[in-house]
Amino acid sequence: MANATRISTTKEMYSTIEFNFWAHQEYSLSPSERFVVETYLDKNLKTVEAGTGGGRIVSSLKNIGFKNLYAFDYVPDFIEVAKKKNNSNNICFSVEDAVSLTYKDSEFEQLLYLQQVLCNIEDEAERANAFKEAYRILKKGGIAIFSLLNFDWRATSPFYAPYLVYLRLLRKIVNVDRSIQYLPQLKYSGKMNLGALLDRPPYLYWYRLEEAYQIIKEANFEIVALGSDFQISQGKMHTSLSTLKQAPMKGMLYFVCKK
Ligand SMILES: C[S@@+](CC[C@H](N)C(=O)[O-])C[C@H]1O[C@@H](n2cnc3c(N)ncnc32)[C@H](O)[C@@H]1O
Repeated sequence: MANATRISTTKEMYSTIEFNFWAHQEYSLSPSERFVVETYLDKNLKTVEAGTGGGRIVSSLKNIGFKNLYAFDYVPDFIEVAKKKNNSNNICFSVEDAVSLTYKDSEFEQLLYLQQVLCNIEDEAERANAFKEAYRILKKGGIAIFSLLNFDWRATSPFYAPYLVYLRLLRKIVNVDRSIQYLPQLKYSGKMNLGALLDRPPYLYWYRLEEAYQIIKEANFEIVALGSDFQISQGKMHTSLSTLKQAPMKGMLYFVCKK
């Protein structure tokens, strides 16, 4: 059982109880990550990865031939680890917060926001701002890929649905007016988090499909492909929201967007 009694923000969570887990991930891509990278990105273009942790994704990109790579994280210790591991010094790592970036307008040709990085932002306005910041730093014609936590899938999963019923009830009893789309992490570093049963912070924000679609459109992106891990496992993303809404959904949501 993981002990996280005094953690109140996601940033604190990554700086402490989740630090070792994400700092020392082996350099490889999951099947879904590999699919979106190989299908939609160009190895020759200037690319930035958001929320890099110990540099797993960006270093894997380097290993498969990407040439011009940048990555950022808001936890300075992650960036220290990532820089140390990058012996050849060929990736530009920096400490940045996705909500407010210091990169120049149109600085990158490709953006990779995987592992649901923006779902760690608890404030709604800040989350919207992070999408706008992504749009700002992307060059016109460039591609951005976002993965987001999928509430619709979680809410219908036989394993999680009872937990959501329990959580709604608990929030009602203790008179807490928090959206059910804010959920505590069930596990820390692979170990059960008892705090999730007590509805303790920090909370991650789980998006409904249409809501996620809307927030990305509001940031001005054109959505060129979308789907969940299920569509990726079939090798076929959708190009419209209406067809995806009729399709089976499993796993996280992925949006491939153009500026
Ligand atoms: C689930 S971990 C993934 C780490 C890495 N991308 C990987 O897959 O191995 C999420 C990462 O996003 C970072 N992060 C969360 N919110 C962030 C923000 N607002 N700005 C920058 N980094 C953020 C965390 O510090 C953490 O390293």
